[in-house]
Amino acid sequence: MSLDTPNTLPALTDIPEIGPEDMAVIRRLLEERIGFHLCRYKDKCVMRRINIRIRATNSDTPTAYCRLLEHDGREMTQLYKALTIHVSHFFRNPSVFDMLRDSVLPELLAVRAGTGSEAVFWSVGCSTGEEPYALAIILREYFSDLIKRIPVRIIATDINAEILDAARRGLYVVERVAEVPPLLVDRYFAREGGKLRLAAEIRDMVTFREEEIFSSGFDRKCDLIMCRNVMIYFERPWQELLLKGFARSLSEGGFLVLGKSETMIGEARRYFAPVSPVERIYRALPAAGQQQGG
Ligand SMILES: C[S@@+](CC[C@H](N)C(=O)[O-])C[C@H]1O[C@@H](n2cnc3c(N)ncnc32)[C@H](O)[C@@H]1O
Repeated sequence: MSLDTPNTLPALTDIPEIGPEDMAVIRRLLEERIGFHLCRYKDKCVMRRINIRIRATNSDTPTAYCRLLEHDGREMTQLYKALTIHVSHFFRNPSVFDMLRDSVLPELLAVRAGTGSEAVFWSVGCSTGEEPYALAIILREYFSDLIKRIPVRIIATDINAEILDAARRGLYVVERVAEVPPLLVDRYFAREGGKLRLAAEIRDMVTFREEEIFSSGFDRKCDLIMCRNVMIYFERPWQELLLKGFARSLSEGGFLVLGKSETMIGEARRYFAPVSPVERIYRALPAAGQQQGG
């Protein structure tokens, strides 16, 4: 059975539905081999992704795909990659970054300048680095004097090590950079064989770490957390757990930025006040830091 042969793919509808027994096998293999917990993710999305891999490997049935997965490490890597969707680009939803630049960061940095302490930013589910790097570009471009005086730390985490290697390299196809204002492209990117390499001065501002969100413990104290287009893939109880974890991690008055299709839910609403519901920017209330557990 060959891998990734898109020309001979059967239509998605030709593949029988994945039954509970096959799902149990896939779940077990992902947990045993790479410690990935499929049960936290929304069923519909997971099924769609697995079906894509069944089709890409020309497996006749989900059971045949399970047999392949059992023995083929490369397919395990492919499936893992398909399940941890990595779509991203620089300044995704640009109005969010405008608001960060114009109101959130000036306030946040003024507070840190007053206390003289480090400003900590955390990009959760950072994929190939576009989000934390966009933040670094804004800090370098618009707050250069302030960040000479205030120590700034940008931590970017993701579950997928391979994706993080790509993030560290900072080499992007032009489409990923399309929403960066031209002036900033000229200043911070260099052409390299048809792609764009991000300047070392920006790359050096971000520390990438392999980290599973729920295993992170939420012990890191942060002033701003960006977790965009990650929560949406999780079942509701896990979304709520995530939000409560962020409440625990944020310093009093710290900011949380969610993706455009994500929102504050359940008990977590008690720990955040909306700053801009449209941009999905929230602020940790005083009780938030007393959250227990992750
Ligand atoms: C769609 S990307 C979002 C990228 C970026 N935040 C953005 O909005 O452009 C989702 C990222 O979440 C990561 N992810 C998924 N599950 C995760 C988990 N349990 N722990 C940490 N990262 C996870 C994936 O590997 C992927 O890179």
